[in-house]
Amino acid sequence: MAERPTKIVFVLTGAGISAESGLGTFREPDQTGLWSRLDPSKLATPEAFASDPAAVHAFYNTRRRDAAAAQPNAAHRALAELEAGLTARGDLLALVTQNVDDLHERAGSRQVVHMHGELNKVRCTGCSQVQAWTTDLGTDDICPVCARRGSLRPDIVWFGETPMHLSLITRALEASMLFVAIGTSGSVYPAAGLVSHARALAIPTCEINLAPSDNAEEFDEALYGPASETVPAWVARLLGH
Ligand code: OAD
Repeated sequence: MAERPTKIVFVLTGAGISAESGLGTFREPDQTGLWSRLDPSKLATPEAFASDPAAVHAFYNTRRRDAAAAQPNAAHRALAELEAGLTARGDLLALVTQNVDDLHERAGSRQVVHMHGELNKVRCTGCSQVQAWTTDLGTDDICPVCARRGSLRPDIVWFGETPMHLSLITRALEASMLFVAIGTSGSVYPAAGLVSHARALAIPTCEINLAPSDNAEEFDEALYGPASETVPAWVARLLGH
């Protein structure tokens, strides 16, 4: 009997999926967006870290604490169910997130690609080693690998830096039969360019968001509403429940 080829569903998530868990998004039009209130050039760039590491640490310490206090919502849980459901029938979910929180993992997702890094990891600017780190980080902390003091930074991709796992992401996308973007404004590249790459390969595309994103016209299908409602309904449809 001929083997059935594995089907890959590619899902890209952004800050909107964690909004109903109480974590702020970046670009809401009012003052609720993180980057509407705070200047990213002073908090999320290598230059900011070089000139005022304490301010950068304070910003990420708050975000790390907020993420630890947050709970996954129905949208995170639905994607964990999607992964389990697809795997059970011999297919795969490629879950790529721009989010630095761990709510996908805590909802039960087993394979998550964090293209913008993770709040719960630090990297040594001296020896480049990455370590798990769940408490506050400061300029006096010592690298557990090379023992340098003050060399640890959040393992987060800052403006001007290259996102992580790009070749893995491209290979997974190119093998996919469906591309879905959830809770992302489509304004930060290269993540925002994945939909046009999918379109160029004739892969069907779907946007699930509160409102049309910056690149909404690139999607074949759109589902608008809060992720805690739209994502479970979409997952149920895909799994044929
Ligand atoms: P944005 O803040 O740019 O966009 C969030 C999107 O989520 C918007 O389109 C909202 O309409 C939508 N949204 C808000 N609440 C929602 C809800 N309850 N349900 C569904 N959608 C909702 O966040 P991202 O696109 O993730 O990078 O931002 C991309 C990157 O910009 C982030 O990863 C971050 C930031 O600078 C780094 O930190 C490296």
